Amino acid sequence: MKLLVFAGSTRTGSWNRKLATVTAGMARAAGADVTHLELGDFDVPMYNADLEAQGTPGDVMRLKEITAAHPAWIICTPEYNASYPALLKNTLDWISSPVKGDPAWSDGFRSTRGKVVGVLSASPGALGGLRSQSHLVPLLFNLQCWVAPKTFALARAPDGFDAGGGLVNEAARNSVQAVLDQVLWAAGRLQDQHRVKEV
Ligand code: FNR
Repeated sequence: MKLLVFAGSTRTGSWNRKLATVTAGMARAAGADVTHLELGDFDVPMYNADLEAQGTPGDVMRLKEITAAHPAWIICTPEYNASYPALLKNTLDWISSPVKGDPAWSDGFRSTRGKVVGVLSASPGALGGLRSQSHLVPLLFNLQCWVAPKTFALARAPDGFDAGGGLVNEAARNSVQAVLDQVLWAAGRLQDQHRVKEV
């Protein structure tokens, strides 16, 4: 299973990137073909339809292609003001915008429809960014993603990782594994269903 993992933070010491790294490692151990995407590596401006009218800018097409090529995703979201960060909204807005004049990308949801998405969050706070999830999940539904019923929020994130970047708490590891299991299982089932339809 091709799994895309990314965090909604470009901060050097990001807890959500650490969580994404741990999750990517667990997914590889489970046999998944993992791409850990660093959103900061992509040249993606703030969405502006005027810019878009001049041609899809920067690395937006590359981002669309990568997201489209992965049936399963894990998103690790920070919480900003009880919601998810603008970085994630901007990324998801760009990849769900149809490309004018390109019939292959006239379907705005080509990169997002049918993706099975696991939502994780990490925060220094006591709720672990849980409130960001309550905004991110409806956005993912709008993008026609299948969101895994299990989610996980890592509270007190600065205490949550050991020196090697592993999760200190066994319950936390089990929770991440449970989200991952659901995502990989459901993505596999949807792919099987698709194959059946294609035959
Ligand atoms: C935050 N932070 C934060 N944390 C939280 O638990 N609930 C919140 O509502 C907010 N609000 C908030 C707003 C803004 C503008 C910033 C910059 C930060 C703190 C945030 O969780 C913390 O900076 C994390 O470390 C961000 O995630 P990364 O970068 O570590 O992955």
